[in-house]
Amino acid sequence: MLDQLNSIEKEALASLENIVDQAALDAWRVTHLGKKSPLMTILGDLGKLSKEERPAIGKRGNEVKRALEAALEAKIETLHRAEMERSLKENALDVTLPGRPRPRGRLHPSTQTLREFYAIWAEMGFQVFRSRDVESDEYNFELLNIPQHHPARDMWDTFYTTTPGVLLRTHTSPGQIHAMRAYCPNPIRVILPGMCYRYEQITASKDIQFQQVEGLAVGKHVRMTDMLETMSEFARRIFGAEYTVRFRASHFPFTEPSMEMDVECVNCGGKGCSVCKHTGWLEIAGAGMVHPVVLKNGGYDPRVYSGFAFGMGPQRVTMLKHGITDIRYFWQNDLRFLEQF
Ligand code: DAH
Repeated sequence: MLDQLNSIEKEALASLENIVDQAALDAWRVTHLGKKSPLMTILGDLGKLSKEERPAIGKRGNEVKRALEAALEAKIETLHRAEMERSLKENALDVTLPGRPRPRGRLHPSTQTLREFYAIWAEMGFQVFRSRDVESDEYNFELLNIPQHHPARDMWDTFYTTTPGVLLRTHTSPGQIHAMRAYCPNPIRVILPGMCYRYEQITASKDIQFQQVEGLAVGKHVRMTDMLETMSEFARRIFGAEYTVRFRASHFPFTEPSMEMDVECVNCGGKGCSVCKHTGWLEIAGAGMVHPVVLKNGGYDPRVYSGFAFGMGPQRVTMLKHGITDIRYFWQNDLRFLEQF
């Protein structure tokens, strides 16, 4: 039986020599190391041998098994290396050729500004509240204290759908009503970003489609000083602490009192230039204390609750930051413009 083991070893190793491909190697493994191979049969039947024979045959059998396994490993390695060399030779790769650059995408400048807004307002405790672009007349006007024949409607003329009373929102303010109705009677601190639409003559500073970021804070004891400082702090964070802001009296039907916030012209530092029309100031936001009628429409009792709201134009901020002089560039999808940011 020892002779048999010796010849198994000799024969197996010899036939391994001639193998040059994976299929033949797999077959070899089955023939010589498989369950039904002569070697495995001998090892499997050790129990049938006499006590005297068993140790020597067992020892030699295991030696042969280890030798075949080691030879197999070495062969796998050799075939692998040969395959690699062959493929390197056949598919020669010129590593000195310059690579083709992959065009990398980037965020739209407006999206970049919006994300800055979100981060700053989040730090100040305001979360994003999404609301729809397609609105009803009721939400866009009526509930914001702008009745059917109010002259203020002229300022916010829009695109109407063929369904009566359904229109594209002219501002993000209707989102105030949605937010209040969703949260009432809890306190609110939200910003409402989104696209707005207006029936306008398109110019370098006005488009029929633009973004706004509305803000709304409602609670008990929310005061005008809260609004002044909150908005001033936002301006400091987005423009830098060196810029002064001012508030001017204004009028909006949905706030009382109403005001507008200006920031010192970031282009000329307040000296006066064409960007600020030689006033030294840039209008940044409309704002005010939420009108009692609007609070009531949102479900809050105006004798108990108060709030402030504002509406900003983030594209205006993007234009100031990057010295963009024409608002029409934003949605034209012109790569020559977009690739600059
Ligand atoms: N909705 C106004 C507009 O589009 C902007 C605005 C002004 C929003 C005052 C407000 C606000 O929330 O309090 O012109």
